[in-house]
Amino acid sequence: MRIRRNTYEKVCHLISSNIRDKVKHHSHVVLGLATGSTPIGIYEKLSKMRNTNFGDTITFNLDEYVGIDKNHDQSYQYFMNKHLFSNLNFRKHYFPTEENHNEYDLMIKNSGGIDIQILGIGTNGHIAFNEPGSNRYSSTRIVDLTENTIKDNSRFFDNIEDVPTKAYTMGLSSIMGAEKIYLVAVGKHKKEILEEAVHGNITEDIPASFLQEHPNCEVYYSE
Ligand code: GLP
Repeated sequence: MRIRRNTYEKVCHLISSNIRDKVKHHSHVVLGLATGSTPIGIYEKLSKMRNTNFGDTITFNLDEYVGIDKNHDQSYQYFMNKHLFSNLNFRKHYFPTEENHNEYDLMIKNSGGIDIQILGIGTNGHIAFNEPGSNRYSSTRIVDLTENTIKDNSRFFDNIEDVPTKAYTMGLSSIMGAEKIYLVAVGKHKKEILEEAVHGNITEDIPASFLQEHPNCEVYYSE
């Protein structure tokens, strides 16, 4: 695994084009989607691909806060509707929820597994909400968010007290099962953790480091 450096514009162009090509040439594509500021540019580009038919594509989002209504403007469902789902028609999109989180990995498996997974990285090395200490073989579950993550994500809320303390997260097992993974990090504040994840020891302390064991993971960094 190596870090490819490029402008954010080029990274988004490359990943969105590769998703489009996959969807054009294969039926029943399954996408694993991330939220956060990092993938917004990818979703903007996908949203403009009106000539591509995504109608046979299924999406599984990585995570969602516990205890937040799906219509709340900080819910990840709201985020995805705003940035992607209101612009493109997919066959079906799924989020981990109270009702389905115990079956989420089976749902992914039954749909054929994830073909392309988009990932961001937290400043503590988390992927999705798999916080430090997460097991490489973990399944989709409810997790406690770390203080670091709550602080990082408080920028989207009026007060830090409003940030949910728990979330549903896709487990590392389903993420690692994706055929292709794009890990994207944007900004100087992500540089150090990205380098540790890619070149350091493979450890539960930095869940993104498990991606070193993935056969087809491309890593992009933009300043
Ligand atoms: C969030 C999400 C992750 C995301 C990460 C980075 O907490 N759970 O899926 O990758 O933190 O977010 P951002 O892209 O805004 O830096």
